[in-house]
Amino acid sequence: MNPIQELQLRIDEAFSAIRFPSAPADLYNPITYTLGHGGKRLRPLLVLASCQMFGGDIADAINPAIGIELFHNFTLLHDDIMDEAPLRRGKETVYKKWNSNVAILAGDTMFAVANKYMLRTRPHAISPVVELFNQTAIEVCEGQQYDMDYEKQQNVSIPDYIEMIRLKTAVLLAASLKTGAIIAGAETDDCNQVYDFGINIGLAFQLKDDLLDVYGDQVKFGKVSGGDIIAGKKTYLYLKALESAGSQTGYFRELYASHNLPSTEKVTKVKELFNQLNIEQLTRLLIDDYYQKALHDLSCISLPEEAMEELSDYAAGLMEREN
Ligand code: IPE
Ligand code: IPE
Ligand code: MG
Ligand code: MG
Ligand code: MG
Repeated sequence: MNPIQELQLRIDEAFSAIRFPSAPADLYNPITYTLGHGGKRLRPLLVLASCQMFGGDIADAINPAIGIELFHNFTLLHDDIMDEAPLRRGKETVYKKWNSNVAILAGDTMFAVANKYMLRTRPHAISPVVELFNQTAIEVCEGQQYDMDYEKQQNVSIPDYIEMIRLKTAVLLAASLKTGAIIAGAETDDCNQVYDFGINIGLAFQLKDDLLDVYGDQVKFGKVSGGDIIAGKKTYLYLKALESAGSQTGYFRELYASHNLPSTEKVTKVKELFNQLNIEQLTRLLIDDYYQKALHDLSCISLPEEAMEELSDYAAGLMEREN
């Protein structure tokens, strides 16, 4: 087992040990259901890997790592309501299986439980870790609001989109890494540097998510293929296509905004245009730009290169992911 797999095992064991009460059933069953489907659990991995990299004891970081993953799972319950997504991790979403009220309340509970876990670390780290966690939660909500605003808004620019995904996704990856660094007692400059690494990895990660939403294999990805197209999300793929759609711009805007076309037909037509305009490759190029920026951030950390190998290998793996 390599060191990353060992950390993953530690995280999986910690999650298997968590028990929620049995009543009220419609509050706790959806939580157990969601957590039981796992997911990649990459955010807690980032917490532990960063803590270890800076010489900390992962026993001090495991609870905040769980807290951040609980928070992430809470955002997914609410995100699926907002995006009207029927499938997550290959399973029915909570709001579909139960209903929206159940998904809202289960999510709220997970957020509160997450907060409790964030406090369980070394005394010197509690205040900065909880401060960072709450600030990050606010930013995620800001990002999610922009995401919804942009569904209706016509004049969304690529910088607007990047700022939106920085908020909804990248800050949580960045905060995970910084949390591990704070717990390990890393220098402020290094804490900030690992945060910046997380932002760039996070931007690449959300771009890849948007790419997989169109070009991924639904079975591996676990979410409905073309979900963003059906919802009319202002993704990089769409915004990039608009730049070079030429005489097809009007048709393309209308098609993408439409809600009365059968969804498979809409997805097929949008994909045809994406394919004509080479959008998959153009998106991959931007993903690689952010990945290179992330590697540069890592190289600015005051640790020997070998100490950062695991994190950089893990980041490389994330760029290749299919789920
Ligand atoms: C999904 O996150 C939400 C995004 C920020 C794209 P993940 O891709 O980490 O989802 P899981 O936890 O592995 O299912
Ligand atoms: C989700 O973005 C970001 C958060 C959940 C905060 P998406 O809406 O693209 O995530 P998925 O694709 O549903 O996982
Ligand atoms: Mg979604
Ligand atoms: Mg969303
Ligand atoms: Mg998505």
